[in-house]
Amino acid sequence: MSITVRAAAKINLHLGVGRVRDDGFHPLDTVYQAIGIHDDIALSLADDLSLTTHVADHIDPAAVPSGADNIVLRAARLLAEHAGRPATGAFEVRKDIPVAGGMAGGSADAAAALVACDRLWDLQTFDDDLLALAARLGSDVPFSLVGGTARGRGRGEVVEALADPGSWWWVAVPSAEGLSTPAVYAHFDALRPDAPEVPPSSDELLAALATGEPLRLARALHNDLQEPAIDLRPDLGDLIARGESEGALRGLVSGSGPTVVFLCDSADGARETALGLAGAGHEVVLTATGPVAGAHVVVPV
Ligand code: C5P
Repeated sequence: MSITVRAAAKINLHLGVGRVRDDGFHPLDTVYQAIGIHDDIALSLADDLSLTTHVADHIDPAAVPSGADNIVLRAARLLAEHAGRPATGAFEVRKDIPVAGGMAGGSADAAAALVACDRLWDLQTFDDDLLALAARLGSDVPFSLVGGTARGRGRGEVVEALADPGSWWWVAVPSAEGLSTPAVYAHFDALRPDAPEVPPSSDELLAALATGEPLRLARALHNDLQEPAIDLRPDLGDLIARGESEGALRGLVSGSGPTVVFLCDSADGARETALGLAGAGHEVVLTATGPVAGAHVVVPV
């Protein structure tokens, strides 16, 4: 008996970051969107707990965290503990979301693992309990469960689903080398010792989103981690400029980076931008639409 659950990559349309809290996390006012780049997690009944990983051509297998620390196994153990049962099953993870790319690939896997275990073990965990366990696994994991377009507050884990009338076209350019999220946040602290206690509000982005107009949304995109990410990786600034010169409405570092995403005006616009970037020597250029669903079953038990 087995089940397959799919979880999507996220981007942040608005990422307002405030001054670091006493617990080391930063207060956020963010707007997440799940886009059509996915990891699939299959879970089969087994006597013990195991994990094998297969990666897309554009991902370096060595970059994927392995061993007992892998977030998929941590998710399984956490839900098993909550349910008072042993953590058992054989996981097979197929990764297409860039690793350490600022697209919540690990969080997507954790969310998918929670859903897979809940269904295969027939636990029928309450949504609120699943969301609370997700928050313990990482700030982005609750959003990976919810999907669509949503506002995130707290350290990102307090998620409120939003109506999103648009169908948005994105081009994503991952980097061969990942960026560490804590390192980018630490660099934000160094560059912005005067950061406000209350993070910059996403109100302007929400107003633009409600119009459904790509140009309005493009103008409102905002990421407070973009400056530290580009300071650590100046090539990202060049990539943004290149994509914008190839027809994208706007380029933006995704979360803490180093993936750069470009908002385009249409499917044709996305294809044109992707071709231009491939022609400029970027080996991996992905196109995707958003919003898409959060972690959901694609092959039932
Ligand atoms: O919550 P998560 O495990 O994904 O966070 C990874 C790291 O990113 C944290 O240890 C912290 O350094 C940084 N972070 C932060 N503020 C947030 C979210 C993450 O400083 N709101």
